[in-house]
Amino acid sequence: MNAAPIQSGRPARLLVHGASGRMGQALLRLAAEDPEVEIVAAVSRSVGQRVIDRIPRFSPSELGGVPPFDVAVDFSLPEGFDGVLSGCLQAGRALVSGTTGLDAAQRSAMEAAARRIPILWSSNFSLGVAVLALLVERAAKALPDWDCDIIETHHKNKRDAPSGTALSLGERVLQSGSQPRYASLRSGDVVGEHSVRFTTSGERIELAHQAGNRDIFAKGALRSAKWLIGRAPGLYGMRDLLD
Ligand SMILES: NC(=O)c1ccc[n+]([C@@H]2O[C@H](COP(=O)([O-])OP(=O)(O)OC[C@H]3O[C@@H](n4cnc5c(N)ncnc54)[C@H](OP(=O)(O)O)[C@@H]3O)[C@@H](O)[C@H]2O)c1
Repeated sequence: MNAAPIQSGRPARLLVHGASGRMGQALLRLAAEDPEVEIVAAVSRSVGQRVIDRIPRFSPSELGGVPPFDVAVDFSLPEGFDGVLSGCLQAGRALVSGTTGLDAAQRSAMEAAARRIPILWSSNFSLGVAVLALLVERAAKALPDWDCDIIETHHKNKRDAPSGTALSLGERVLQSGSQPRYASLRSGDVVGEHSVRFTTSGERIELAHQAGNRDIFAKGALRSAKWLIGRAPGLYGMRDLLD
């Protein structure tokens, strides 16, 4: 992995956006154990106590008044993304986002913003899925005439379908000339399962990944945040970090 650009020696100051959610909670818990980071602000729609575990809480409308931060880490919902993007632009600070289900206009806005600040967006921050994507790309290139089916399962509360990860895997397949098909299941509390099947007459290859908990994503996002601070403006992905 590339080393992060040298900083001042103090912990990286993080703003967590979507702090009350499943991912936000995992992020706050892991960040509390990491001496290289300090959470300076936690943002979510519902703000009860103004300070919890010495971390000040803010609503999205208060983003303009948060303490100075080096990087925002966003795991919210599409309706929250525009606010954190403009907050980072106004502050001139880096943004790591794992929010999925963004529409075309939001993706364009992210690309435009990346001309001014460093942004790392990924539909999946797990190392295993990053490697799965490389394997899928390789298989798709070798098997352009085979059928490709991407099957994903997530918990019942997940809003977008197909998942952002399934679409990112599908983009790798599309680049190789095949047209992937998608199937989405929403069941129980499944954290995330992705399976990519290449099928032809008489044989099938299946590449699959199962996420057992959300810490794998939160760890990847924390690593990405530290890596992104001090980088030149641009739109980065997990591949840049792993390369
Ligand atoms: N890239 C990855 O590796 C990865 C992994 C897992 C999940 N995800 C994605 O991460 C996102 C969050 O997932 P989750 O399971 O944590 O969802 P969640 O439990 O529903 O949490 C969503 C969070 O976003 C906040 N929020 C909603 N609307 C907002 C707004 N307009 N402005 C500011 N904050 C807002 C919510 O605040 P309130 O609770 O106060 O409403 C909550 O804190 C989803 O898009 C999911 O697909 C990505």
